[in-house]
Amino acid sequence: MAESQSQEDPRTQVEAASKAFEHEFERFARFTGQSAAVHGLTLDHAESEQRALAELRTRHLGKKSVLANCKKSIGRVATEGRAAFGQLVQSREAEIVSAIEQAETKLKDHIQSARTLRESIDVTLPGRRPRRGHLHPITLVRERLEDIFVALGYAIEDDREIETDFYNFDALNIPPNHPARASQDTFYTIEGLALRSQTSTVQIHAMQRRGAPVRMIAPGRVFRRDTPDPTHNPMFFQVEGLCVDRGITMAHLKGTVAELLRRMFGSKTVTRFRPSYFPFTEPSAEFDFSCFKCGGSGCRICKNSGWIELGGSGMVHPNVLRAAGVDSDEFSGFAFGFGIDRMVGLMYELDDIRLLFENDVRFLEQFD
Ligand code: DAH
Repeated sequence: MAESQSQEDPRTQVEAASKAFEHEFERFARFTGQSAAVHGLTLDHAESEQRALAELRTRHLGKKSVLANCKKSIGRVATEGRAAFGQLVQSREAEIVSAIEQAETKLKDHIQSARTLRESIDVTLPGRRPRRGHLHPITLVRERLEDIFVALGYAIEDDREIETDFYNFDALNIPPNHPARASQDTFYTIEGLALRSQTSTVQIHAMQRRGAPVRMIAPGRVFRRDTPDPTHNPMFFQVEGLCVDRGITMAHLKGTVAELLRRMFGSKTVTRFRPSYFPFTEPSAEFDFSCFKCGGSGCRICKNSGWIELGGSGMVHPNVLRAAGVDSDEFSGFAFGFGIDRMVGLMYELDDIRLLFENDVRFLEQFD
């Protein structure tokens, strides 16, 4: 090809190169001149056009281009035509350069503004609302209970979950052979230490710390070696209550529990006490309240009895007062305890208490 080119009239070669360029440049012509048509061109497209244009420039102006060859051959042109040929080559080259540069500039500007646009943010757009969590249903109910007791003049106690035999059993007047001490009911960690199986342990800590008189509730986690089922979980929550003062009687216990249940379940709620037994109280009683759903006529929640069993209570056993360093001749007190999760289960009509501990957001979301 070089052979045949060199044979041709060099002017024809230059004109041919110029024609060939014009032909190939046609698709880029829209990027030149006043009304350059870059508008609406996507960034991707503009970038690929830019690459194609760079290739075009190499083909027509690069070292191996026809035009470059022609430039090299200027010296070989006969003297009389050399200047005119040189001018022709230069002016054709200048035309090509100018056309390419115009298109290059337009594309470059367009790409730049398209990139800026892509990276810019619209500060007037409404923000994306972050998903906020909310309190767990057990926490919601615990806080309601706390509010009620704080209003009644009680302190909130928070205490340890791993306990010694003294706080778990001895100080609570639980005899050495009592079944609660058995390892099939209690999680022992190491000899003499166990996960508390009831919040009653906090009664002892509270009396030791505060002395008497004392009014406190202690909500918290307790642990029992139960096989999980719809009404049992090896970890659950209780709230303990303790009131010790001079002249405290069973009447104070009944008044306090009844008031709690009225504030929790409505002013018409009736409370009843049934004789029972707990080692740390004497006398002891379990308490029920009239069903908040049916008002006592009987329904699914109260299993048609009209009553819902909630917890245990009684007058603090003198041995317990003494174990905690309180003078049992001067002071008397009442105590009570019940399950927070059980209360949550009743209030929200849960068929399975374990839902409360699985942390499945599809369940928890419903308590927002
Ligand atoms: N600790 C008992 C339980 O877990 C509940 C209880 C009963 C607590 C009587 C008390 C009480 O304070 O006086 O079953």
